[in-house]
Amino acid sequence: MEYTTLGDTGMTVSRLCLGTMSFGSGRTWTLDEEQSDEIIQRALDLGINFFDTANVYSQGESEEILGSSLAGHNRDRLVVSTKVYHPMDPENPNSSGLSRKTIQQELSNSLERLGMDTVDIYHAHSLDPETSVETTMRAFNEVIERGMARYLGASSVWAWEFSEALRVADTLGLEPFSVMQNHYNLAYREEERDVLPLCDKHDVGVIPYSPLARGYLTRPDDATAATTRGADEAVEYDHTYHEGGGRTINERVEELAEEKGVSMAQISLSWVLHQDWVDAPIIGVSSVEHLEDAVEALDVSLSGSELEYLEEPYEPSEIAGHDWPADITGHR
Ligand SMILES: NC(=O)c1ccc[n+]([C@@H]2O[C@H](COP(=O)([O-])OP(=O)(O)OC[C@H]3O[C@@H](n4cnc5c(N)ncnc54)[C@H](OP(=O)(O)O)[C@@H]3O)[C@@H](O)[C@H]2O)c1
Repeated sequence: MEYTTLGDTGMTVSRLCLGTMSFGSGRTWTLDEEQSDEIIQRALDLGINFFDTANVYSQGESEEILGSSLAGHNRDRLVVSTKVYHPMDPENPNSSGLSRKTIQQELSNSLERLGMDTVDIYHAHSLDPETSVETTMRAFNEVIERGMARYLGASSVWAWEFSEALRVADTLGLEPFSVMQNHYNLAYREEERDVLPLCDKHDVGVIPYSPLARGYLTRPDDATAATTRGADEAVEYDHTYHEGGGRTINERVEELAEEKGVSMAQISLSWVLHQDWVDAPIIGVSSVEHLEDAVEALDVSLSGSELEYLEEPYEPSEIAGHDWPADITGHR
């Protein structure tokens, strides 16, 4: 495994972070506890020390599974991230958002499910238009001071919002966001316009999610719906990866994979790993084989002309990942 320092946190993380959105229940493609545990144990064997979850993944089940799988391991060696914002209880409006009440109670609940005293990174899963940035940053600062979290992160926010949050934290002497978890892959590069340069300027750690475009860049375009998740994603998320230059990118990934004798997933992941602003992509896997494939991608190198060949067909696309409907639950 390769390791890197996450932004300016000084914290060392594996170059791959294991995402746990698919661990739990409630969807055709969620993995049960036994299947999830097998993947987590293999990730540890392979040297992965970095794990990402969220309170809302399978409504807390993902945190429970991750916590129990990691329980027998030395906590000091692990870097664990979770998130807050999306509703946990449809009957309780204070289970969502980023008010002081929500942040405090949801982090307590997350820690209980994880069986941990502290998380290494606590993410705002989105910024909350109903709560002032000042209130949110003060509430986050309090959980840092109480030792419930070590660093703060934000996920899929507009550059102006992120910049405002950094400014408020700086002005008030509060803990800033030092990690950005955003949507970024070869078929979705809108973050290159302003969020990524902003992170670069402030040395914010970048841990992109959906580095394989939710599976779109792991198999030929006409096989998108061939897997359980693929079939589900195509219906529910109406993603636009195939639009603009997406299909051509997909073809070029396949072509280069054949030429180099590696998988499409490895080419796609390698492209993300070659981007200077990326510290550690958060990978999603539905089998141990996917995980092993991802680790091998660390050894796949792409030349300047190969990177350009993959990038060339990209066309600007609609923003995807920001401003999700407030009532979304479960998986994102
Ligand atoms: N902050 C946010 O808003 C947000 C949003 C989304 C995700 N996330 C985080 O990011 C993590 C990863 O997201 P993601 O699952 O969308 O990431 P992804 O890595 O882009 O997609 C994962 C999917 O790619 C396919 N795949 C992976 N490895 C493969 C391989 N070697 N060969 C063939 N197919 C392969 C699998 O699809 P099939 O199952 O179809 O084979 C797998 O389910 C999540 O678990 C979560 O922690 C955060």
